[in-house]
This record gives sequence, structure tokens and C-alpha cells, in this order.
Amino acid sequence: MPKRILIQLDCDAQPSTFDAVVAVDAGADVLLRHGGVTPENVASLVHGAMFTRGGADLASTAIFIGGSDVAAAEAVAARVRGTFFGPVRVGVLLDPSGANTTAAAAVVAAARHLPLKPGEKPQSRALVLGGTGPVGQRVARLLAGRGANVTVASRTLRRAEDVVQQISAKLPQAAVSAAEWTGSVRSDTALAKLVEQIDLIVAAGAAGAKLLDAPGRALARAAKVIIDLNAVPPAGIEGVVANDKARPDGGAVVYGALGVGGTKMKIHKAGIDRIFTQTDAFLDAEDLLTIGEQL
Ligand SMILES: NC(=O)c1ccc[n+]([C@@H]2O[C@H](COP(=O)([O-])OP(=O)(O)OC[C@H]3O[C@@H](n4cnc5c(N)ncnc54)[C@H](OP(=O)(O)O)[C@@H]3O)[C@@H](O)[C@H]2O)c1
Repeated sequence: MPKRILIQLDCDAQPSTFDAVVAVDAGADVLLRHGGVTPENVASLVHGAMFTRGGADLASTAIFIGGSDVAAAEAVAARVRGTFFGPVRVGVLLDPSGANTTAAAAVVAAARHLPLKPGEKPQSRALVLGGTGPVGQRVARLLAGRGANVTVASRTLRRAEDVVQQISAKLPQAAVSAAEWTGSVRSDTALAKLVEQIDLIVAAGAAGAKLLDAPGRALARAAKVIIDLNAVPPAGIEGVVANDKARPDGGAVVYGALGVGGTKMKIHKAGIDRIFTQTDAFLDAEDLLTIGEQL
């Protein structure tokens, strides 16, 4: 059995050490780390993966695409996909900014308590605060794909509308809408009304940004699941603790960043394992959610 070689393609100048450590823990024997990867310079790196090992041995080479700029990583991913031909390809995992694995883990957590199944008519109403960041965008897309009626909230309506447009382009049947808010739910009547009716709230704001204070949280009387993905104090949702994992709180269960983070790590490692066993795997957020649901 040849050694498992993972080729880490990172769009940032410095390839992520987080992604490197997880790769080794997930079973990569050798890690080849490349920073500053762009669509223009990636083809020769991919050729090196494609043309060195033949037959079944090809499965022991795989590619991880990361970096803090999701759009840049997706452009690299498109070029990687276009470089493969026929069966001469290796498994690929796309997880820039940890957004795909984190979003998948958040949706796995929510689906433990809510009817979130592909193709179902919208049964759950979801609000994604900070829904314009890498993580929030993916959470919104995955929830929409699981039949939720999703509202993406941003402090700038145009940014939320852009996210809605991207989701709708990928999922034409999705029930997804945009909302503007001031950053405080109390002072925003339209959003306060929405929060009162919502089944699921996911706070995906920037690290250390408080999105929902205690009075805002109290409005969410109908909420069955509340998830705060921010691990950096203060909490994104007041009262949620990073370690919370399905902790009952009023009529809801709450999850904090570390409560979701355990599943995220399992999904990440399972994804790495998958790309070493399936040369035609090209794992994006939806594939990682499926992996998370099977864990
Ligand atoms: N648990 C895990 O395993 C894990 C893994 C990765 C990331 N995370 C966490 O997930 C969260 C989202 O990550 P990300 O990379 O998507 O975040 P991000 O891009 O830094 O921020 C997300 C959104 O937050 C909003 N925002 C920024 N500053 C704000 C403020 N002061 N008040 C209110 N809203 C503000 C912005 O939206 P608008 O400007 O459009 O309003 C921004 O698009 C972060 O807290 C991150 O630490 C957790």
C-alpha cells in the first residue's frame, strides 16, 4: 500500500496549520503544502498528482483546497476539476475557512431536533444571523437544500440579497429571503417579529461579535434550536456557552461553537478519509453534510 499523500492547496500565502494538523490526524502520511495557489498556477500541481501513480495506487494521492478567501478557493477548485480528464483524477476536499465542515456540522446538529430533509416542503423556519460570511452562507445554503425556509440577515441588505441570489441560482426551488438588521434585534421591529416565529436561529457572525443579547434571545420563544458558532468571547448569542451541546434552554436546545466543533472535526476527518478511498470524490458543502448525517 503506497503512502497516503495529501496535497494541500491554500490560496493564502501561508498554508493553514489547522488544516495541516487535521490532515495528519486523519491519516495522511505525507503532506505537501502549497501557499499562494491561484487558478493560473494550480494546473501543474494537479498534473503532479495525476501522472505519478497509476491504477489503484492513484487513490493514495488526494487534494485539499483551503484558504481564508472562499471565492478564491472555489475558483481554484473549478480549475482543479477542469484539469482532470477521464479516470485520471484524485479525490478532492474543498473547505476554505473551515466553512463547509462547520456549516455541515451546524446543520447536522439542527437536524437532530427539526425536520430537515431534502425535497420536503418548508417545515422549519430558520434565521441565519451573520449570514453573509463564509460559514453563514454555507449554513443558509445547506438549510435551504434540506427544505427549510431560510432568512439570511446582514447589516447591509444588499449583501444578504447577494447571498440569496447565489443560493437561488444553485437551488432554484429554495425558500430563501434576505433581511437587513442593525445588529440589534430589539431595535429592529421587522426582525424582532421574525425572531418570534423562528424555529432555528444560527449565529454565524464574526468572532467576538455579539449578535443577539438576552432580550433579543428572549424574543425567540418558538425557537426549537439555537446555535452560536462564535467561540471567541463575548458569545454571539448571550447565554450560550461554547461547550453547549443540545442543552435544554426554555423550549429550545442550544449549541455553542465547541458543541458543534466536535462534529465538524469528525466530518473533516471523514472527508479526508473519503478522498483517499474514492478518486472521483469532489467534496463540497453538500457532500460533507451527507457525510455528517452518516456519522
Ligand atoms: N465552531 C467551529 O468549528 C468554527 C469553525 C470556523 C468558524 N467558526 C466561527 O463561525 C463564525 C463565522 O465565521 P466566518 O468566517 O463566516 O465569519 P466572518 O466572515 O468573520 O463574519 C461573518 C459575518 O458577521 C457579520 N459581522 C461582522 N462583524 C460584526 C459585528 N460587529 N456585529 C454584527 N455582525 C458582524 C458580517 O456580516 P454583515 O456585515 O453582512 O452584517 C460578516 O459577514 C465565526 O464566529 C467563527 O469564529 C466556528
